[in-house]
Amino acid sequence: MKLENFPKTVFLTGATGVLGGRILKDLLQSTSSRVYCLARGDDSLHCQERVRSFLRVYDADDSLQAEFTSRVNVLQGDVSQERLGLSEKAFTELQGATDITIHAAANTSLLLKYKRLAPINVQGTGHVIDFCLGTAERILSYVSTYTVMGDKTFDGGVNFRETDYDLGQGFEYMNYQRSKFLAEGMVRGARERGLKWRIFRPGQIYGDSVTGAYPLSETRVTGLFYDVFRTAMDTLVMPESCSHYDVVPVDYVSRGIVALSDGIENFFDVYHLTNPDAKTFSEVMGLLRGMGYPIELLPEEVYKQRLRAGEITKNGELYTSTMLKAFSLWFFVSKISFRSSAMTNCEYTRLKLEKFGVSCPPVDHRLIKTYVHAGIREGYFPQPFSADFSSACPIP
Ligand SMILES: NC(=O)c1ccc[n+]([C@@H]2O[C@H](COP(=O)([O-])OP(=O)(O)OC[C@H]3O[C@@H](n4cnc5c(N)ncnc54)[C@H](OP(=O)(O)O)[C@@H]3O)[C@@H](O)[C@H]2O)c1
Repeated sequence: MKLENFPKTVFLTGATGVLGGRILKDLLQSTSSRVYCLARGDDSLHCQERVRSFLRVYDADDSLQAEFTSRVNVLQGDVSQERLGLSEKAFTELQGATDITIHAAANTSLLLKYKRLAPINVQGTGHVIDFCLGTAERILSYVSTYTVMGDKTFDGGVNFRETDYDLGQGFEYMNYQRSKFLAEGMVRGARERGLKWRIFRPGQIYGDSVTGAYPLSETRVTGLFYDVFRTAMDTLVMPESCSHYDVVPVDYVSRGIVALSDGIENFFDVYHLTNPDAKTFSEVMGLLRGMGYPIELLPEEVYKQRLRAGEITKNGELYTSTMLKAFSLWFFVSKISFRSSAMTNCEYTRLKLEKFGVSCPPVDHRLIKTYVHAGIREGYFPQPFSADFSSACPIP
């Protein structure tokens, strides 16, 4: 994908994250734009090193080193602060230089209190909007999430489309989702002040579909979706569920954002960057089972009883993980059931991306094998149990 007419100067937030690191790679590969990255760190050198190390997760052979040196400027800052934590001079200069802003920074913890998330996700987005409104083109690509549908996520009757936003959803015990819903609302509302926005709602982001790369040892916020896999592999038991379990490769999400941020038309569109191949949670667990992890699926009530009784174990010892903490919160406090779920409709986005030659690989044995092998290589996933596994799927 080569985007010859991409805006010349990009301001990117969140480059030290799962998605932002990959967006930086795609900007360096597919465009000739200069990229200003806002990053947190002890000093500017530390910020620069952090951005570099996230880029290297996806660019393991360092083939983009020269591009990074010549086209990337890293600025120490913080979206939760006035003027993004920049000096007045740096802020104004950055505004003067920026043609498009891609805002991917957020606190992505699903377990934090709202008051911890809001300064970054809500007020931080307000600061980014104010920044954009002072740029010449006033263009913002904002990274939202499909979970802005809040508690409708667990409603089997809902078909959530790109054109939907406020379905009357609730957000009890869904603080992250609430913060993203409110932030998306601020972006939408800023149209009246002259903001030209595009909104991207990714699904559950997993690693690169070809290499499996994912910053497993780099992220400050534990990747919940990898924790789901690890918890299943370690405890060998999960609740059975016909809920849609999205597995969307980071390269599809990133390339989608970059491709659809090209050009000076088609503003005020929302894009669902979920996997068009919608598999259920039980089917995804089945794919892991096929990789040599004998995961037993239990009826939800039976699983809940075991969880409550402290019977989710590894080698006879009580098991703890972010996933189990989230399960406990959802099952016992917010009383959510995973028996069914909404569908996230991504047809509009899929068709748009076809024109750029960007498509999403299906959630099949090949994709899951790529992720499992990468996770084992990183020492994050345990080795599979099945003797057949090593010969059927040799680990590189
Ligand atoms: N991951 C998913 O499955 C998923 C799904 C749907 C939507 N999204 C959305 O996609 C975007 C990227 O998510 P991700 O998975 O890449 O998240 P991530 O890995 O947790 O990275 C978050 C990024 O935001 C930065 N950030 C956090 N607080 C900041 C602050 N106060 N000032 C400046 N930067 C700050 C982080 O920097 P530090 O390293 O300094 O903390 C990091 O670069 C987010 O908007 C998220 O809501 C993600």
